[in-house]
Amino acid sequence: MKTKTKILVSILSILGFFIFSSLLCCYFLFFHHYKGSNPVNEWSAADEFNIESIKTIEKDKNKDFVILNLADVQMCDLEDLFHASTIHSEISYLVEQTKPDLITLTGDQTWSNENLISLRLLISWLDGYKIPYAPVFGNHDYGNRKNSAVASQNYCCDLYERGRYSLFSRGPSNLGTLGNYVVNIVEDGKIFKTLYMIDSGYEEKITDQQIEWLKWNAEGIKKANNNATSEGMCFMHKPLPEYAQAYNDYLSGDVEAIGEVFVSYSLAGSLQNGFFEAAKEWGVKDIVCGHQHGNNFTLLYQDVRLTFALKTGELGGYYYDGQTNLNGATYFVLGEQTQVKNIFVSPTQFHIKDSEFNPN
Ligand SMILES: [Fe+2]
Repeated sequence: MKTKTKILVSILSILGFFIFSSLLCCYFLFFHHYKGSNPVNEWSAADEFNIESIKTIEKDKNKDFVILNLADVQMCDLEDLFHASTIHSEISYLVEQTKPDLITLTGDQTWSNENLISLRLLISWLDGYKIPYAPVFGNHDYGNRKNSAVASQNYCCDLYERGRYSLFSRGPSNLGTLGNYVVNIVEDGKIFKTLYMIDSGYEEKITDQQIEWLKWNAEGIKKANNNATSEGMCFMHKPLPEYAQAYNDYLSGDVEAIGEVFVSYSLAGSLQNGFFEAAKEWGVKDIVCGHQHGNNFTLLYQDVRLTFALKTGELGGYYYDGQTNLNGATYFVLGEQTQVKNIFVSPTQFHIKDSEFNPN
């Protein structure tokens, strides 16, 4: 073979290898479906409750306990990765400013079918803060349609469970959704607060099994807590129908607001069923949701604080009308009393793109 031909064959081989490797890489990053593990862990109300199975986080008795909530971060693997460092900087800023003891994430951490790199990246950032974190799923985390994403819900569960500082643990497999779990905040050996992390899923209601499971946990924790109901907080993605009722009652002057109230998007289409009644009966004093980026409030409704948390970051559409800017995070200062606060990020501080308002 002539030298020129040899060189040409070598170049074509290298080029071919490069194209083949790139296509293979693209396939595994953007098209392959990662199913993840699928453990069967069926729960029944007749099961014996074991307090040891609940993860705990310690509260220092000499200081308030701060929970920073990140809502609807909504990254995706294609165009949004170019903005990843800006989002990372914004989250780091929120962490530095609030110095949380725990970071909660109320769902839609990612928003498209291309979720694999985004989720891995987000988990690596969270682990980097060396602060425990507790995520729930939203209606986009594992695909625009349920389980249409590269990383399935089971695979997302696997990734969250592997997170070094993650408190996430996959709940029973027969509740309708997988991401339900409980965390106790413990102070001086006593339960200070119980956090119910609820997976509001892709459907329009929380399942009856989820409600029964919450009651079963609350009852078990009560028995382990010298027969005292533990004061609870629920973190979930979608708002309950009581949010709409509370807002109507606020407009008519019958419900008290804690801080500013901003509603730009309909509260209709919230989850339906009796979750609120059950949670209230079992000591829940705070319910925190995200999902609707154009709403932000805390309303005291039937002795329960209903909070629409601030959306975090500009990705996926955020509310900005030239005056009101709903970008930042809501955080909770837990001491003798619970304080609900917002930290806002100015429109120029971590700016990515002009607002294309996207409600959820
Ligand atoms: Fe959502």
